[in-house]
Amino acid sequence: MAPKSERAFVIGAGRLGCALAKCLPAAGVEVMGLWSRSKRTTSRARRATGLPCSSGDFPSAIRSANVLFLTVSDDAIADVCTKLVEHHLVRNSQTVIHCAGCLNLSPLGEAARIGASTGSLHPLATFPVPSRRKEPSFAGALALIDGSRSVVRRLGRLVRSLGMRPARLAVSGSEPSSPRALYHAAAVVAASGVLSTMDLALEAAMAAGLKRSDALAGLLFLARGTLDHLELDRSAAKALTGPVARGDEDTVKRHLEALEEESDEARLLYEALTKRASTIAANGNREDGDR
Ligand SMILES: NC(=O)c1ccc[n+]([C@@H]2O[C@H](COP(=O)([O-])OP(=O)(O)OC[C@H]3O[C@@H](n4cnc5c(N)ncnc54)[C@H](OP(=O)(O)O)[C@@H]3O)[C@@H](O)[C@H]2O)c1
Repeated sequence: MAPKSERAFVIGAGRLGCALAKCLPAAGVEVMGLWSRSKRTTSRARRATGLPCSSGDFPSAIRSANVLFLTVSDDAIADVCTKLVEHHLVRNSQTVIHCAGCLNLSPLGEAARIGASTGSLHPLATFPVPSRRKEPSFAGALALIDGSRSVVRRLGRLVRSLGMRPARLAVSGSEPSSPRALYHAAAVVAASGVLSTMDLALEAAMAAGLKRSDALAGLLFLARGTLDHLELDRSAAKALTGPVARGDEDTVKRHLEALEEESDEARLLYEALTKRASTIAANGNREDGDR
């Protein structure tokens, strides 16, 4: 996006909306304001960003922005876009962007119908509830972008200004959204999937008798080391350690018996992860055999 001349309005002042509003000015984009549905989210966003934030009726300032970021929940994007068009707040010279990983551009159909440009920008990063403890940053993340050729060019410039690396799927725009759903499923497995797995590990270690602080520090060290190996080796098969990699079936049985006593959920997750580890190990053996 052309730095300095871009004026953005952020509609949806939640986790990502606030992070964008805080980081866009350094990327050369003026943020005119934020809107959120509830007063509570609006007050939090005002404290977090120091920018004009409102709830209730959409502010008329939306019309004077040239880029609208619709950072509302995925399920609300189509409805909010339609309402903005109905309130004549979207002009055909504007660009309307959503940030959902799972969706193609069809939720922005009403804006496209009146001639506005549409696109999507999904940062492959996580932004928790805004806090004073950690400033948001997009630097280093991959950003999936979509839209017409000119929108993709502008979004490419913007994501680079935010320190991200732009990427595209082989399909785009109005094509079926299933590749987007697959891409987003991958993102969710790598983010909340890892968190859920770590939560189970923490619970099991504490049930075994470790102090929470020791369990958390020890398991984080182990998990980071594993991810470092994956990054270095660029292969899950090479980075795989543990009973499945060694073929210690009795150890796996002991784990399952112990987890069974904790909960069905713990046993089922362990079983699913063990199955995947067996696939990784088998693929690794096949790769070794091919060499
Ligand atoms: N957070 C992340 O790490 C992240 C990363 C990549 C992409 N995204 C994408 O960014 C978008 C926003 O996600 P988020 O995590 O920032 O969500 P969030 O923190 O829950 O914020 C959601 C926002 O949407 C508003 N909203 C929800 N339902 C609405 C409705 N029916 N009508 C109008 N407004 C509504 C909320 O308003 P009130 O709170 O005022 O009710 C809030 O402003 C999503 O498309 C998500 O996929 C998020």
